[in-house]
Amino acid sequence: MSTIPICQCNAEVLSNREIGPGLYWIDLLAPDITRHALPGHFVHLVVSDVSEDSSRQTWLRHTPLLRRPFSIAERDPDNGVFGLIYRIVGGGTEILAMRRIGERVNVLGPLGRPLEPMRSGRPAIMVAGGVGVAPFLSLAQETVRDSRASPEEMTVLFGAATAGLLSGEEKFRELGLHVKLATDDGSAGYHGLVTSLLERELTLSPDRCAYLYACGPTPMMRRCQEIARDEGIAGQVSLEGIMPCGVGVCMACVVPCVVPGDRSAPPRYERVCDTGPVFDMQEVVL
Ligand SMILES: Cc1cc2nc3c(=O)[nH]c(=O)nc-3n(C[C@H](O)[C@H](O)[C@H](O)COP(=O)(O)OP(=O)(O)OC[C@H]3O[C@@H](n4cnc5c(N)ncnc54)[C@H](O)[C@@H]3O)c2cc1C
Ligand code: FES
Repeated sequence: MSTIPICQCNAEVLSNREIGPGLYWIDLLAPDITRHALPGHFVHLVVSDVSEDSSRQTWLRHTPLLRRPFSIAERDPDNGVFGLIYRIVGGGTEILAMRRIGERVNVLGPLGRPLEPMRSGRPAIMVAGGVGVAPFLSLAQETVRDSRASPEEMTVLFGAATAGLLSGEEKFRELGLHVKLATDDGSAGYHGLVTSLLERELTLSPDRCAYLYACGPTPMMRRCQEIARDEGIAGQVSLEGIMPCGVGVCMACVVPCVVPGDRSAPPRYERVCDTGPVFDMQEVVL
């Protein structure tokens, strides 16, 4: 379990804007959470407005009841602000998209196990599917800010259904990373799956990848696991799943994991919110 303090606060919405079809970026003022967050950490949000002066009835201010988890995509510690990128998939994210500047949302975080930091001399590829790009925006930003590795040692392979859902790729380019895109409909970059792009990259530029990170839809991460196993590349996956409590209590988020050193043993079950959401590339059974 993480030793980083978990904070809870009513964070002020500083901006909440649509950056692609059904895709949003929200900036929240929460200095304590921002100060302690590391790449790969997530926050758990009450998506309704909890401002003290809100005229809404109490039950409406807590609808839906359960918090929703989102990876921290960017952090500005000097100003106490962090950013999230999110896609509308259901009721909770639809309500989040209605939050206006000046309203407040209740935030719990930072939560979970962070990503393994980038290391100079160990070139890495980050494979992102859709909003799975969020933890890698943060990882790239913090790595460059702390000069842990040079941008030339980092490659991002970013895939989505269509070009409009690739928002955020310009932030990687501004940092100086190698960026390659893939879309299912061929509207930007490689026409096909981002995992096929990964295979092509490993064939054309094998020196670019001594470590592999993956975050996105489960089939994408499963294919990344297979490729990493075949190529003998170490790495990590970051999972996105159902997460009612977010703090290790309800057990609703467990995933099967292999026992280290004994793949034939029955799996052990680990909580994504607590032991994860980041797991060793070959540890979790997807
Ligand atoms: C660690 C982690 C990080 C995540 N990071 C991001 C991110 O950066 N950006 C982003 O857009 N999404 C992220 N997600 C997914 C996001 O939490 C879900 O899309 C969101 O909770 C759906 O809420 P909803 O009410 O709009 O959808 P619902 O209408 O409730 O359901 C839509 C879908 O979301 C799933 N879902 C419902 N409740 C939860 C819940 N509490 N936790 C997880 N899934 C749920 C349901 O299975 C359903 O398939 C992350 C999930 C996890 C676990
Ligand atoms: S979400 Fe409750 S234990 Fe993980």
